[in-house]
Amino acid sequence: RDGYDFIVVSNRLPVDRVVSAEGEASWQRSPGGLVTALEPVMRAADGAWIGWAGQPDLDVEPFVGDGIHIIPVALSTDEVENYYEGFSNDTLWPLYHDVIAPPSYHREWWESYVVVNQRFADAAAAAAAEGAVVWVQDYQLQLVPKMLRSVRPDLTIGFFNHIPFPPYGIFSQLPWRTQIVDGLLGADVIGFQRVADASNFSRAVRRLLGHVTKNPYIEVPGEPSRRVLAKAFPISIDSTSFEELARRPEIQARAREIREGLGNPQTVMLGVDRLDYTKGIGHRLKAFGELLADGRVSVEDVTLVQVASPSRERVQAYMQLRDEVELTVGRINGDFSTMSHTAISYHHHGYPREEMVALYLAADVMLVTALRDGMNLVAKEYVASRFDGNGVLVLSEFTGASDELRRALRINPHDIDGLKDAMVQAIGMPVAERQRRMRAMRKQVLQNDVERWSADFLTALRGEAEGDVDLD
Ligand code: G6P
Repeated sequence: RDGYDFIVVSNRLPVDRVVSAEGEASWQRSPGGLVTALEPVMRAADGAWIGWAGQPDLDVEPFVGDGIHIIPVALSTDEVENYYEGFSNDTLWPLYHDVIAPPSYHREWWESYVVVNQRFADAAAAAAAEGAVVWVQDYQLQLVPKMLRSVRPDLTIGFFNHIPFPPYGIFSQLPWRTQIVDGLLGADVIGFQRVADASNFSRAVRRLLGHVTKNPYIEVPGEPSRRVLAKAFPISIDSTSFEELARRPEIQARAREIREGLGNPQTVMLGVDRLDYTKGIGHRLKAFGELLADGRVSVEDVTLVQVASPSRERVQAYMQLRDEVELTVGRINGDFSTMSHTAISYHHHGYPREEMVALYLAADVMLVTALRDGMNLVAKEYVASRFDGNGVLVLSEFTGASDELRRALRINPHDIDGLKDAMVQAIGMPVAERQRRMRAMRKQVLQNDVERWSADFLTALRGEAEGDVDLD
């Protein structure tokens, strides 16, 4: 059977279609942690990537983009609304992030989720060589493993969940909870960001299906019965490429230019997020605004740069968040900025990686205040970029990253006083302590990069395929 030996399936392709003013279409790398994480892996293995091109009603033939075989899956306007904006991002996303925003449950969204998952599964079944490895990514495609296995039992199927898997008390709200868990169990290996996510999943399996779990394994009865590995594989970044960029003289010059543009304050604090309600941007702004009001920091000395990249702009909760954030930024700037110093330099844009690294170098303090986050790659990007050993990371304990970056200043973003104290501590931290902490974190991030992550996952996946044991 002809086809690819290695296939990645994700909702979004690693490239976006852009059309110039002259009407010419081309493909550009798309932003997002997932792409950053998997690109090096795809280049190393001559594989294929199956995914959506990011626009409705776009039917494109397979092509080679950026050296990767791309197999586009088309979504209609209705499916973008129901499967992507609806079920994926207005049901699963808030549910899996501890219901920070209320999830909506609509039967037509679920129906569209099933139809679209089947389309991705069909595309993978058609593209995979005999015995191929197929690696399915993230919450948008949780039914694909089972759908794929039912037609292609020869395949080795992996699944990685990039976002949290919620505790059963929350997950059990989902009317289709059993189908989701059952869909995931079609995989040989199910990877999660944190140990807690894997155990939340195992508990859901026990409660909903009654399967026996022997941590980290789940026994799935059937003919033949199967063993599924459910385990934490914390994702990472292409650490050395961040360090390499940061060492470039032109990037360092750009970092100085950014500081000058801000009026050369003593301290630059930085927040970088998709504009998402899980990121705790409001909590961060509140803490900073109070520090200014209390007089514990002044705009002459401290500037906060907030990059909020546009995301899921047609989903109501995201529109509302944008209004709230921009209102707050406007208020704080109105109250505290002077003619020569702006309190918050706010940017509703995405930036290329070079500019991000320059920003990381320009920032004395990085603020990651997510209320819930599967991993948070920004925290790791900051650490990887600080080859000078300087810079302080303030990191929410509700991120996957905080399981690993133990030497960050770890905070509970709901505790505004605690967050304010951590910001003040970060601003005044003695150089020796900064460097001690940063050195320890850098060791972690440089050792455990994305290559290591994918190698660990794929080794576990191949191990499971070889050791396929009949449990009866
Ligand atoms: C998170 C998800 C990814 C997603 C990304 C961007 O990192 O885990 O699956 O691709 O956000 O969101 P979007 O909805 O634009 O794909």
